[in-house]
Amino acid sequence: MPRRSFVFAAATLLPLCATAQEQGSTERGLAYARKVCAECHLVADEAGLSPKPEVKTFKQIANTPGMSSIAIGVWMQSEHENMPHIVPEPGELNDVVAYIVSLKD
Ligand code: HEC
Repeated sequence: MPRRSFVFAAATLLPLCATAQEQGSTERGLAYARKVCAECHLVADEAGLSPKPEVKTFKQIANTPGMSSIAIGVWMQSEHENMPHIVPEPGELNDVVAYIVSLKD
């Protein structure tokens, strides 16, 4: 197979793969977090304290052992004592989880 047709096939298939995996967008995740989570959590990729100093920053959450994207997704979909029960749309959840996980050192 000539090399060119391989490159063509890869370029056509890539966007499809991205959709199939439902990879969240870290950019949209950050925008969402700034709107919805930033009141309590430091959401930016920086050291420091959250607006509510007792609340973990997103970077700390990302670096908590065992805090996988699945664990964060489960957390977001369950009730908690101290954090309000915020239920993002599935697309938003994907995005915000992808964003948090991207902050892992
Ligand atoms: C009104 C304040 C507030 C808002 C808004 C808020 N959180 Fe929280 N969050 C908390 C508090 C308080 C805790 C610690 C709660 C506990 O341990 O019960 C927490 C804990 C968490 C944890 C678990 C951390 C861990 O290590 O156990 C995750 C994940 C999380 N928040 C994600 C989010 C996301 C994503 C958003 C936005 C969609 C958000 N939070 C919005 C207050 C908030």
